[in-house]
Amino acid sequence: EPQKELIRDTWQIVNQDQIHHGTVLFTRLFELEPELVFLFQYNSANFSSVQECLNSSEFTEHIRKVMTVIDAAVRSLDSLLSLEEYLTGLGRKHRATGVKLESFNTVGESLLYALESGLGDMFTSDTRDAWSRLYTIVVSAMSKGWWR
Ligand code: HEM
Repeated sequence: EPQKELIRDTWQIVNQDQIHHGTVLFTRLFELEPELVFLFQYNSANFSSVQECLNSSEFTEHIRKVMTVIDAAVRSLDSLLSLEEYLTGLGRKHRATGVKLESFNTVGESLLYALESGLGDMFTSDTRDAWSRLYTIVVSAMSKGWWR
């Protein structure tokens, strides 16, 4: 079980500015896997640069969506199974957008990066462990959407 108090306390800080920390996450993600930017096509138009994507209101909404899912997971630490069906469906939707399951490893790295930048000294190795475990649970539920 992820260490719940550690997750709740640190999330409370990061969740105060979802867009800022979510932007740090996706900026890192696009540094590590720039081609992911092409999966975000709103009104079927391709962004011509990462910056254009990050600045768009639709993408800002996606950041909000991601942070809302993480918030739901943090609120459901005592009953993560209750999110399983939702997360499997969310995984299925992501498969349909062309995301590879492997890219979610990079998302995980980028999440830890954003937490570390947001938390500074509070980001201890226990914090990292707790968040990696929670992220692993969320992604394994999503990953079922790739074959179910
Ligand atoms: C929707 C891509 C990671 C949560 C979408 C959409 C795209 C997309 C193209 C549809 C357009 C939109 O709603 O903005 C990606 C890519 C990701 C990624 C390329 C990283 C590789 C995540 C993560 C989460 C997430 C980590 C949360 C854990 C959502 C939600 C929606 C969504 C909640 C809306 C689904 C709905 O309409 O029911 N994503 N996404 N995404 N994404 Fe992501």
